[in-house]
Amino acid sequence: MSGQLLQGKTAIVTGAASGMGKATAKLFAAEGANVVLADLNKEAAVQVALELPDGRGHAVQVDVADDESVAALIQETVAVFGAPDVLVNCAGVPQAFTPIEELTLEQWDRIMSVNAKSLYLTARHAVPHMKAKARGSIINIASIAGIRARPGLNAYCASKGAAIMLSKALAIELAPYQIRVNVINPGPAETPMLGKFINGDEQEVEAGKKDIFISSVPLGMLIQPEDIAQAALYLASDLSKIVTGEVMNVDGGRGI
Ligand SMILES: NC(=O)c1ccc[n+]([C@@H]2O[C@H](COP(=O)([O-])OP(=O)(O)OC[C@H]3O[C@@H](n4cnc5c(N)ncnc54)[C@H](O)[C@@H]3O)[C@@H](O)[C@H]2O)c1
Repeated sequence: MSGQLLQGKTAIVTGAASGMGKATAKLFAAEGANVVLADLNKEAAVQVALELPDGRGHAVQVDVADDESVAALIQETVAVFGAPDVLVNCAGVPQAFTPIEELTLEQWDRIMSVNAKSLYLTARHAVPHMKAKARGSIINIASIAGIRARPGLNAYCASKGAAIMLSKALAIELAPYQIRVNVINPGPAETPMLGKFINGDEQEVEAGKKDIFISSVPLGMLIQPEDIAQAALYLASDLSKIVTGEVMNVDGGRGI
């Protein structure tokens, strides 16, 4: 797909320095959007911004789990490109398989903060601008793990389940303002994150990718970051103008 589906739109993509966020930022810019690439890793976000067509990318350092940092991200977006039309919450952290009694309070809090609380924080600061425009599209990247559990992914599954339900709650709350809120549930995807779900050395990680992840996908292959970007483009654009509160599994059938 290529064209101008997001011509003149301002989009914020969190987690844009890597994986799905990076692919989404690139596709959105190719479709005419001005994109704020928001990531903890500013250096990498700047590199991705340089790959975007002239002037369409702006990198911002953010910790999506921190209220002040998110407030500053939205302010900077408004100052540089104007009020956001599209917000893609892609930043996230994985969990290595951990028995519940070994999971530390610190690990639980970090996973819940980055994967779930962050969606509240970005909405809290972006929604007033979307309400003023009477339009907006928020796309939350959750996970198939938010609806289908795996042993040892306790906090991660809980954080993604929270992300899905918060999205539905916001979809119904914000519909009167023409602000749509949808979810993409990726299945196991070929990004730097995938290996981090597995405890072990490089060999065990590579074996795990094949034995645990590819074998769990009925279509028999890992999801690519671009597959998620295409789904996000549909949900960001007017092609989906009547779609809200939807949870789209982009997972090769893993969720069946
Ligand atoms: N890779 C998979 O198999 C998979 C499957 C299902 C869902 N997901 C979800 O998809 C999303 C994208 O994952 P990915 O595979 O592209 O991962 P990735 O590790 O390639 O990219 C994640 C990005 O988020 C950034 N980030 C992490 N914590 C942050 C914070 N506190 N503030 C700002 N930025 C932060 C990282 O710096 C990184 O650039 C995540 O929410 C992830 O949970 C991934």
